[in-house]
Amino acid sequence: PRHVTRAADGALAVAGLSVRDIADRFGTPVYVLDEDDLRSRCRDFRAAFPTEDVYYAGKAFLCRAVVRAIAEEGLFLDVCTGGELVTALSAGMPPERIGFHGNNKSVAELARAVDAGVGRIIVDSFDEIDRLTALARERGVRPRVLVRVTVGVEAHTHEFIATAHEDQKFGFSLAGGAAAAAAFRILDEGVLELRGLHSHIGSQIFDTSGFEVSARRVLALQAQIRDARGVELPELDLGGGFGIAYTTQDDPAAPADLAKRLRKIVDAECAAEQLVVPHLSIEPGRAIVGPAVFTLYEVGTVKDVDGIRTYVSVDGGMSDNIRTALYDASYSATLASRASAAEPMLARVVGKHCESGDVVVKDEFLPADVQPGDLVAVPGTGAYCRSMASNYNHVPRPPVVAVRDGQARLIVRRETEDDLLALDVG
Ligand code: LLP
Repeated sequence: PRHVTRAADGALAVAGLSVRDIADRFGTPVYVLDEDDLRSRCRDFRAAFPTEDVYYAGKAFLCRAVVRAIAEEGLFLDVCTGGELVTALSAGMPPERIGFHGNNKSVAELARAVDAGVGRIIVDSFDEIDRLTALARERGVRPRVLVRVTVGVEAHTHEFIATAHEDQKFGFSLAGGAAAAAAFRILDEGVLELRGLHSHIGSQIFDTSGFEVSARRVLALQAQIRDARGVELPELDLGGGFGIAYTTQDDPAAPADLAKRLRKIVDAECAAEQLVVPHLSIEPGRAIVGPAVFTLYEVGTVKDVDGIRTYVSVDGGMSDNIRTALYDASYSATLASRASAAEPMLARVVGKHCESGDVVVKDEFLPADVQPGDLVAVPGTGAYCRSMASNYNHVPRPPVVAVRDGQARLIVRRETEDDLLALDVG
Protein backbone atom coordinates (compact mmCIF):
# COMPACT_ATOMS: atom_id res chain seq x y z
CA PRO A 1 0.00 0.00 0.00
CA ARG A 2 0.98 3.61 -0.58
CA HIS A 3 0.79 4.74 3.04
CA VAL A 4 3.16 2.28 4.70
CA THR A 5 6.01 3.59 6.87
CA ARG A 6 8.20 2.30 9.69
CA ALA A 7 7.15 3.53 13.14
CA ALA A 8 9.75 4.67 15.68
CA ASP A 9 9.91 1.17 17.22
CA GLY A 10 10.74 -0.32 13.81
CA ALA A 11 7.29 -1.82 13.24
CA LEU A 12 5.46 -1.19 9.96
CA ALA A 13 2.66 1.32 10.14
CA VAL A 14 -0.15 1.79 7.65
CA ALA A 15 -1.78 5.22 7.43
CA GLY A 16 -0.08 5.99 10.73
CA LEU A 17 -1.28 2.87 12.57
CA SER A 18 1.25 0.28 13.74
CA VAL A 19 0.76 -3.31 12.60
CA ARG A 20 1.29 -4.31 16.21
CA ASP A 21 -1.84 -2.41 17.19
CA ILE A 22 -3.74 -4.00 14.33
CA ALA A 23 -2.62 -7.50 15.34
CA ASP A 24 -3.43 -6.85 19.02
CA ARG A 25 -6.89 -5.62 18.23
CA PHE A 26 -7.98 -7.92 15.38
CA GLY A 27 -5.69 -10.94 15.66
CA THR A 28 -3.83 -12.59 12.79
CA PRO A 29 -3.98 -13.44 10.00
CA VAL A 30 -5.70 -10.26 8.92
CA TYR A 31 -6.07 -8.47 5.60
CA VAL A 32 -5.21 -4.80 6.06
CA LEU A 33 -6.71 -2.38 3.57
CA ASP A 34 -5.20 1.08 3.13
CA GLU A 35 -8.46 2.80 2.30
CA ASP A 36 -6.96 6.02 0.95
CA ASP A 37 -4.77 3.91 -1.32
CA LEU A 38 -7.82 2.11 -2.70
CA ARG A 39 -9.57 5.41 -3.24
CA SER A 40 -6.57 7.01 -4.90
CA ARG A 41 -6.34 4.11 -7.35
CA CYS A 42 -10.02 4.61 -8.17
CA ARG A 43 -9.28 8.29 -8.75
CA ASP A 44 -6.26 7.53 -10.91
CA PHE A 45 -8.48 5.44 -13.18
CA ARG A 46 -11.25 8.06 -13.17
CA ALA A 47 -8.74 10.77 -14.06
CA ALA A 48 -7.20 8.63 -16.80
CA PHE A 49 -10.60 7.63 -18.22
CA PRO A 50 -12.73 10.74 -17.58
CA THR A 51 -15.16 10.29 -20.46
CA GLU A 52 -15.20 6.49 -20.24
CA ASP A 53 -16.82 4.24 -17.62
CA VAL A 54 -14.59 2.35 -15.21
CA TYR A 55 -16.23 -0.81 -13.90
CA TYR A 56 -14.49 -2.17 -10.82
CA ALA A 57 -14.38 -5.98 -11.22
CA GLY A 58 -15.86 -7.10 -7.92
CA LYS A 59 -14.52 -10.64 -8.23
CA ALA A 60 -11.13 -9.28 -7.14
CA PHE A 61 -12.57 -8.41 -3.73
CA LEU A 62 -16.07 -7.42 -2.78
CA CYS A 63 -17.68 -6.28 0.44
CA ARG A 64 -20.10 -3.49 1.21
CA ALA A 65 -17.47 -1.00 2.37
CA VAL A 66 -15.56 -1.43 -0.87
CA VAL A 67 -18.74 -1.12 -2.94
CA ARG A 68 -19.51 2.17 -1.18
CA ALA A 69 -15.95 3.45 -1.61
CA ILE A 70 -15.79 2.72 -5.35
CA ALA A 71 -19.28 4.16 -5.86
CA GLU A 72 -18.28 7.35 -4.04
CA GLU A 73 -15.20 7.59 -6.24
CA GLY A 74 -17.38 7.49 -9.35
CA LEU A 75 -16.76 3.94 -10.49
CA PHE A 76 -19.20 1.42 -11.90
CA LEU A 77 -19.24 -2.22 -10.80
CA ASP A 78 -18.88 -5.55 -12.61
CA VAL A 79 -20.44 -8.53 -10.83
CA CYS A 80 -20.51 -12.11 -12.09
CA THR A 81 -22.83 -14.03 -9.77
CA GLY A 82 -26.03 -13.56 -7.83
CA GLY A 83 -23.95 -13.38 -4.66
CA GLU A 84 -21.87 -10.48 -5.94
CA LEU A 85 -25.01 -8.78 -7.23
CA VAL A 86 -26.72 -9.05 -3.85
CA THR A 87 -23.65 -7.65 -2.10
CA ALA A 88 -23.57 -4.70 -4.50
CA LEU A 89 -27.27 -3.95 -4.16
CA SER A 90 -27.23 -4.31 -0.40
CA ALA A 91 -24.46 -1.70 -0.25
CA GLY A 92 -26.63 0.71 -2.21
CA MET A 93 -24.81 0.51 -5.54
CA PRO A 94 -27.13 2.13 -8.09
CA PRO A 95 -28.29 -0.80 -10.26
CA GLU A 96 -27.85 1.16 -13.46
CA ARG A 97 -24.13 1.33 -12.67
CA ILE A 98 -23.81 -2.46 -12.44
CA GLY A 99 -22.73 -4.77 -15.27
CA PHE A 100 -23.53 -8.47 -14.94
CA HIS A 101 -21.07 -11.05 -16.29
CA GLY A 102 -20.77 -14.82 -16.29
CA ASN A 103 -20.69 -17.74 -18.69
CA ASN A 104 -23.44 -19.68 -16.92
CA LYS A 105 -25.85 -17.29 -15.28
CA SER A 106 -28.89 -19.13 -13.99
CA VAL A 107 -32.44 -18.12 -14.81
CA ALA A 108 -32.81 -17.00 -11.19
CA GLU A 109 -29.70 -14.84 -11.41
CA LEU A 110 -30.81 -13.29 -14.69
CA ALA A 111 -34.28 -12.63 -13.31
CA ARG A 112 -32.82 -10.94 -10.27
CA ALA A 113 -30.57 -8.77 -12.40
CA VAL A 114 -33.40 -7.79 -14.73
CA ASP A 115 -35.77 -7.07 -11.84
CA ALA A 116 -33.13 -5.00 -10.07
CA GLY A 117 -32.64 -3.01 -13.27
CA VAL A 118 -28.90 -3.55 -13.76
CA GLY A 119 -27.38 -1.30 -16.38
CA ARG A 120 -26.19 -4.06 -18.62
CA ILE A 121 -25.84 -7.79 -18.91
CA ILE A 122 -22.87 -9.18 -20.80
CA VAL A 123 -24.27 -12.20 -22.65
CA ASP A 124 -21.96 -15.14 -23.09
CA SER A 125 -23.87 -17.95 -24.87
CA PHE A 126 -26.84 -18.61 -27.14
CA ASP A 127 -28.54 -20.39 -24.24
CA GLU A 128 -28.27 -17.23 -22.20
CA ILE A 129 -29.67 -15.12 -25.02
CA ASP A 130 -32.65 -17.51 -25.15
CA ARG A 131 -33.17 -17.33 -21.38
CA LEU A 132 -32.85 -13.60 -21.19
CA THR A 133 -35.11 -13.09 -24.18
CA ALA A 134 -37.80 -15.24 -22.55
CA LEU A 135 -37.46 -13.31 -19.28
CA ALA A 136 -37.65 -9.97 -21.06
CA ARG A 137 -40.77 -11.03 -22.97
CA GLU A 138 -42.45 -12.26 -19.78
CA ARG A 139 -41.74 -9.01 -18.01
CA GLY A 140 -42.24 -6.67 -20.91
CA VAL A 141 -38.83 -5.07 -20.43
CA ARG A 142 -35.87 -4.50 -22.75
CA PRO A 143 -32.60 -5.35 -20.95
CA ARG A 144 -29.44 -3.74 -22.26
CA VAL A 145 -26.81 -6.24 -23.29
CA LEU A 146 -23.26 -6.48 -24.56
CA VAL A 147 -22.02 -9.49 -26.50
CA ARG A 148 -18.83 -10.96 -25.08
CA VAL A 149 -16.48 -11.66 -27.96
CA THR A 150 -13.60 -14.13 -27.85
CA VAL A 151 -11.10 -12.33 -29.99
CA GLY A 152 -8.45 -15.05 -30.32
CA VAL A 153 -5.63 -13.20 -28.59
CA GLU A 154 -2.99 -15.14 -26.68
CA ALA A 155 -2.45 -12.96 -23.63
CA HIS A 156 0.93 -13.42 -22.01
CA THR A 157 -0.17 -14.57 -18.61
CA HIS A 158 -0.84 -17.81 -16.75
CA GLU A 159 -2.97 -20.26 -18.77
CA PHE A 160 -5.70 -20.38 -16.09
CA ILE A 161 -6.31 -16.64 -16.32
CA ALA A 162 -6.01 -16.06 -20.08
CA THR A 163 -9.48 -15.76 -21.57
CA ALA A 164 -9.34 -14.74 -25.21
CA HIS A 165 -7.70 -17.63 -27.02
CA GLU A 166 -10.20 -19.60 -29.09
CA ASP A 167 -10.39 -22.82 -27.12
CA GLN A 168 -12.04 -21.83 -23.85
CA LYS A 169 -15.39 -21.43 -22.16
CA PHE A 170 -15.93 -17.66 -22.28
CA GLY A 171 -17.67 -15.62 -24.91
CA PHE A 172 -18.64 -16.03 -28.54
CA SER A 173 -15.89 -16.90 -30.97
CA LEU A 174 -15.03 -14.18 -33.43
CA ALA A 175 -13.17 -16.38 -35.88
CA GLY A 176 -15.91 -19.03 -35.92
CA GLY A 177 -18.62 -16.43 -36.62
CA ALA A 178 -20.54 -17.05 -33.39
CA ALA A 179 -20.02 -13.47 -32.20
CA ALA A 180 -21.55 -12.01 -35.36
CA ALA A 181 -24.38 -14.56 -35.21
CA ALA A 182 -25.12 -13.61 -31.58
CA ALA A 183 -25.24 -9.91 -32.42
CA PHE A 184 -27.48 -10.54 -35.45
CA ARG A 185 -29.86 -12.71 -33.46
CA ILE A 186 -30.25 -10.04 -30.76
CA LEU A 187 -30.73 -7.27 -33.31
CA ASP A 188 -33.16 -9.27 -35.43
CA GLU A 189 -35.30 -10.39 -32.50
CA GLY A 190 -35.34 -6.86 -31.08
CA VAL A 191 -36.28 -8.05 -27.59
CA LEU A 192 -32.96 -7.20 -25.97
CA GLU A 193 -31.23 -3.88 -26.56
CA LEU A 194 -27.79 -4.56 -27.98
CA ARG A 195 -25.55 -1.79 -26.66
CA GLY A 196 -22.21 -3.07 -27.82
CA LEU A 197 -19.41 -5.60 -27.82
CA HIS A 198 -17.17 -6.71 -25.00
CA SER A 199 -13.80 -8.36 -24.86
CA HIS A 200 -11.62 -9.38 -21.94
CA ILE A 201 -8.34 -11.02 -22.81
CA GLY A 202 -7.07 -12.18 -19.43
CA SER A 203 -5.60 -11.02 -16.18
CA GLN A 204 -2.26 -9.76 -14.81
CA ILE A 205 -1.21 -8.55 -18.28
CA PHE A 206 1.72 -6.18 -18.83
CA ASP A 207 2.07 -6.26 -22.58
CA THR A 208 -0.64 -3.92 -23.85
CA SER A 209 -0.33 -5.11 -27.44
CA GLY A 210 -2.96 -7.76 -26.61
CA PHE A 211 -5.49 -4.99 -25.91
CA GLU A 212 -4.61 -3.34 -29.19
CA VAL A 213 -5.17 -6.51 -31.21
CA SER A 214 -8.40 -7.20 -29.37
CA ALA A 215 -9.71 -3.63 -29.90
CA ARG A 216 -8.89 -3.89 -33.56
CA ARG A 217 -10.74 -7.19 -33.92
CA VAL A 218 -13.90 -6.19 -32.06
CA LEU A 219 -14.08 -2.97 -34.03
CA ALA A 220 -13.83 -4.94 -37.25
CA LEU A 221 -16.86 -6.89 -36.04
CA GLN A 222 -18.53 -3.60 -35.17
CA ALA A 223 -18.03 -2.52 -38.80
CA GLN A 224 -19.32 -5.86 -40.06
CA ILE A 225 -22.50 -5.41 -38.00
CA ARG A 226 -22.92 -1.89 -39.34
CA ASP A 227 -22.51 -3.11 -42.90
CA ALA A 228 -24.94 -6.00 -42.44
CA ARG A 229 -27.63 -4.34 -40.30
CA GLY A 230 -27.03 -0.62 -40.63
CA VAL A 231 -26.55 -0.05 -36.89
CA GLU A 232 -23.52 1.31 -35.11
CA LEU A 233 -23.33 -0.08 -31.61
CA PRO A 234 -22.83 2.80 -29.18
CA GLU A 235 -20.64 1.10 -26.55
CA LEU A 236 -17.44 -0.93 -26.40
CA ASP A 237 -15.95 -2.61 -23.34
CA LEU A 238 -12.30 -3.62 -23.46
CA GLY A 239 -12.34 -5.59 -20.20
CA GLY A 240 -9.80 -5.58 -17.39
CA GLY A 241 -6.62 -7.46 -16.70
CA PHE A 242 -4.11 -4.69 -16.10
CA GLY A 243 -1.11 -6.13 -14.27
CA ILE A 244 0.23 -4.98 -10.92
CA ALA A 245 3.68 -5.27 -9.33
CA TYR A 246 3.84 -8.26 -7.00
CA THR A 247 7.62 -8.14 -6.91
CA THR A 248 10.14 -5.49 -7.89
CA GLN A 249 10.55 -7.15 -11.30
CA ASP A 250 7.01 -6.26 -12.42
CA ASP A 251 6.56 -2.95 -14.20
CA PRO A 252 2.89 -2.05 -14.66
CA ALA A 253 1.68 0.78 -16.91
CA ALA A 254 0.12 3.79 -15.23
CA PRO A 255 -3.63 4.16 -15.89
CA ALA A 256 -2.96 7.39 -17.84
CA ASP A 257 -0.62 5.57 -20.22
CA LEU A 258 -3.05 2.74 -20.63
CA ALA A 259 -5.81 5.19 -21.44
CA LYS A 260 -3.69 6.93 -24.01
CA ARG A 261 -2.80 3.69 -25.77
CA LEU A 262 -6.32 2.28 -25.76
CA ARG A 263 -7.83 5.52 -27.04
CA LYS A 264 -5.23 5.84 -29.75
CA ILE A 265 -5.91 2.39 -31.13
CA VAL A 266 -9.69 2.75 -30.91
CA ASP A 267 -9.56 6.15 -32.64
CA ALA A 268 -7.30 4.84 -35.39
CA GLU A 269 -9.41 1.76 -35.98
CA CYS A 270 -12.67 3.72 -36.01
CA ALA A 271 -11.17 6.14 -38.51
CA ALA A 272 -10.06 3.27 -40.72
CA GLU A 273 -13.49 1.60 -40.59
CA GLN A 274 -15.33 4.93 -40.73
CA LEU A 275 -17.08 4.19 -37.46
CA VAL A 276 -18.28 6.67 -34.87
CA VAL A 277 -16.05 6.14 -31.82
CA PRO A 278 -18.15 4.16 -29.31
CA HIS A 279 -18.44 5.03 -25.64
CA LEU A 280 -15.64 3.05 -24.00
CA SER A 281 -15.54 1.18 -20.73
CA ILE A 282 -12.97 -0.95 -18.94
CA GLU A 283 -13.12 -3.40 -16.03
CA PRO A 284 -10.05 -3.31 -13.79
CA GLY A 285 -10.21 -5.38 -10.61
CA ARG A 286 -6.70 -6.28 -9.51
CA ALA A 287 -5.19 -2.90 -10.42
CA ILE A 288 -7.61 -1.13 -8.09
CA VAL A 289 -7.65 -3.31 -5.00
CA GLY A 290 -4.57 -5.54 -5.30
CA PRO A 291 -1.84 -3.17 -4.14
CA ALA A 292 -4.02 -1.54 -1.46
CA VAL A 293 -3.96 -4.57 0.87
CA PHE A 294 -1.37 -6.61 2.71
CA THR A 295 -1.86 -9.72 4.79
CA LEU A 296 -0.44 -9.68 8.28
CA TYR A 297 0.55 -13.07 9.69
CA GLU A 298 2.18 -14.22 12.88
CA VAL A 299 5.14 -16.55 12.67
CA GLY A 300 4.58 -19.84 14.49
CA THR A 301 7.63 -21.96 13.74
CA VAL A 302 11.01 -21.47 12.10
CA LYS A 303 12.60 -24.65 10.77
CA ASP A 304 15.99 -24.96 9.17
CA VAL A 305 15.93 -27.94 6.82
CA ASP A 306 19.38 -29.44 6.56
CA GLY A 307 20.92 -26.15 5.59
CA ILE A 308 18.90 -26.06 2.31
CA ARG A 309 16.45 -23.40 3.33
CA THR A 310 14.48 -22.16 6.28
CA TYR A 311 10.75 -22.71 6.45
CA VAL A 312 8.93 -19.93 8.23
CA SER A 313 5.41 -21.10 9.08
CA VAL A 314 2.71 -18.50 9.49
CA ASP A 315 -0.79 -18.82 10.95
CA GLY A 316 -2.64 -18.79 7.60
CA GLY A 317 -1.63 -20.05 4.16
CA MET A 318 -3.36 -21.40 1.08
CA SER A 319 -6.80 -20.86 2.65
CA ASP A 320 -6.26 -17.08 2.63
CA ASN A 321 -3.98 -16.92 -0.42
CA ILE A 322 -4.35 -19.74 -2.94
CA ARG A 323 -2.56 -17.83 -5.69
CA THR A 324 0.95 -19.11 -5.06
CA ALA A 325 -0.22 -22.73 -5.12
CA LEU A 326 -2.68 -22.27 -7.99
CA TYR A 327 -0.84 -19.96 -10.39
CA ASP A 328 2.72 -20.19 -9.15
CA ALA A 329 2.31 -16.51 -8.28
CA SER A 330 5.17 -14.52 -6.78
CA TYR A 331 4.81 -12.55 -3.58
CA SER A 332 7.23 -10.91 -1.21
CA ALA A 333 7.29 -10.87 2.58
CA THR A 334 8.69 -8.47 5.16
CA LEU A 335 9.35 -8.72 8.85
CA ALA A 336 6.70 -6.26 10.02
CA SER A 337 6.69 -6.13 13.80
CA ARG A 338 10.22 -4.84 14.37
CA ALA A 339 13.39 -3.77 12.65
CA SER A 340 16.25 -6.26 12.56
CA ALA A 341 19.92 -5.84 11.78
CA ALA A 342 20.42 -9.61 11.41
CA GLU A 343 21.87 -11.06 8.19
CA PRO A 344 19.34 -11.86 5.45
CA MET A 345 18.44 -15.54 5.21
CA LEU A 346 16.74 -17.36 2.34
CA ALA A 347 13.33 -18.37 3.62
CA ARG A 348 10.15 -19.95 2.33
CA VAL A 349 7.02 -18.60 3.95
CA VAL A 350 4.55 -21.45 4.33
CA GLY A 351 1.12 -21.84 5.88
CA LYS A 352 -0.42 -24.17 8.44
CA HIS A 353 -2.32 -26.43 6.06
CA CYS A 354 -1.82 -30.14 5.67
CA GLU A 355 -0.07 -30.21 2.34
CA SER A 356 3.37 -29.30 1.14
CA GLY A 357 2.06 -27.06 -1.67
CA ASP A 358 0.82 -24.69 1.01
CA VAL A 359 3.32 -21.96 0.18
CA VAL A 360 2.66 -18.24 0.56
CA VAL A 361 6.03 -16.88 -0.62
CA LYS A 362 8.39 -19.25 -2.37
CA ASP A 363 11.69 -17.46 -1.90
CA GLU A 364 12.30 -14.47 0.29
CA PHE A 365 15.17 -13.05 2.28
CA LEU A 366 14.10 -12.51 5.87
CA PRO A 367 16.37 -11.48 8.73
CA ALA A 368 18.07 -14.56 10.18
CA ASP A 369 16.71 -13.82 13.63
CA VAL A 370 13.05 -14.14 12.54
CA GLN A 371 11.28 -16.03 15.30
CA PRO A 372 7.91 -17.23 16.58
CA GLY A 373 5.75 -14.29 17.57
CA ASP A 374 7.12 -12.01 14.86
CA LEU A 375 4.65 -10.47 12.46
CA VAL A 376 5.23 -10.87 8.73
CA ALA A 377 3.49 -8.77 6.09
CA VAL A 378 2.78 -10.00 2.55
CA PRO A 379 1.86 -7.07 0.28
CA GLY A 380 -0.32 -7.06 -2.81
CA THR A 381 -3.00 -9.37 -1.44
CA GLY A 382 -6.05 -7.21 -2.13
CA ALA A 383 -7.11 -9.03 -5.27
CA TYR A 384 -8.17 -12.67 -5.49
CA CYS A 385 -7.03 -13.58 -1.97
CA ARG A 386 -9.95 -12.94 0.40
CA SER A 387 -12.30 -13.44 -2.55
CA MET A 388 -10.82 -16.89 -3.25
CA ALA A 389 -10.31 -17.82 0.41
CA SER A 390 -11.51 -21.22 1.59
CA ASN A 391 -12.11 -23.07 4.82
CA TYR A 392 -9.62 -25.79 3.97
CA ASN A 393 -8.76 -27.74 7.10
CA HIS A 394 -11.66 -25.90 8.76
CA VAL A 395 -9.65 -22.75 9.13
CA PRO A 396 -11.94 -19.74 9.60
CA ARG A 397 -11.37 -17.02 7.00
CA PRO A 398 -9.52 -13.89 8.17
CA PRO A 399 -11.13 -10.49 8.63
CA VAL A 400 -10.54 -7.37 6.53
CA VAL A 401 -9.62 -4.21 8.39
CA ALA A 402 -9.68 -0.82 6.67
CA VAL A 403 -7.23 1.78 7.94
CA ARG A 404 -7.52 5.48 7.30
CA ASP A 405 -5.95 8.45 9.12
CA GLY A 406 -4.56 6.24 11.87
CA GLN A 407 -7.96 4.64 12.55
CA ALA A 408 -8.81 0.99 11.95
CA ARG A 409 -12.30 -0.17 11.08
CA LEU A 410 -13.43 -3.77 10.74
CA ILE A 411 -15.18 -4.17 7.38
CA VAL A 412 -15.35 -7.97 7.13
CA ARG A 413 -15.25 -9.81 10.44
CA ARG A 414 -13.26 -12.94 11.10
CA GLU A 415 -15.13 -16.16 10.57
CA THR A 416 -15.53 -18.13 13.78
CA GLU A 417 -15.60 -21.82 14.53
CA ASP A 418 -19.29 -21.32 15.32
CA ASP A 419 -19.79 -19.99 11.78
CA LEU A 420 -18.24 -23.20 10.47
CA LEU A 421 -20.32 -25.41 12.75
CA ALA A 422 -23.50 -23.50 11.90
CA LEU A 423 -23.44 -24.92 8.38
CA ASP A 424 -22.94 -28.46 9.62
CA VAL A 425 -26.53 -29.52 10.21
CA GLY A 426 -26.21 -33.31 9.92
N1 LLP B 1 -13.61 -8.39 -16.62
C1 LLP B 1 -13.85 -9.70 -16.80
C2 LLP B 1 -14.86 -10.12 -17.76
C3 LLP B 1 -13.11 -10.66 -16.08
O1 LLP B 1 -13.35 -11.95 -16.28
C4 LLP B 1 -12.14 -10.23 -15.16
C5 LLP B 1 -11.35 -11.19 -14.40
C6 LLP B 1 -11.94 -8.85 -14.99
C7 LLP B 1 -12.68 -7.97 -15.75
C8 LLP B 1 -10.94 -8.29 -14.02
O2 LLP B 1 -9.63 -8.66 -14.27
P1 LLP B 1 -8.45 -7.96 -13.44
O3 LLP B 1 -8.43 -6.50 -13.83
O4 LLP B 1 -8.75 -8.13 -12.00
O5 LLP B 1 -7.24 -8.70 -13.85
N2 LLP B 1 -8.21 -15.45 -9.91
C9 LLP B 1 -7.22 -14.98 -10.86
C10 LLP B 1 -7.75 -13.90 -11.73
C11 LLP B 1 -9.01 -14.30 -12.44
C12 LLP B 1 -9.58 -13.15 -13.22
C13 LLP B 1 -10.95 -13.47 -13.67
N3 LLP B 1 -11.56 -12.45 -14.44
C14 LLP B 1 -5.98 -14.53 -10.12
O6 LLP B 1 -5.94 -14.64 -8.90
O7 LLP B 1 -5.00 -14.12 -10.74
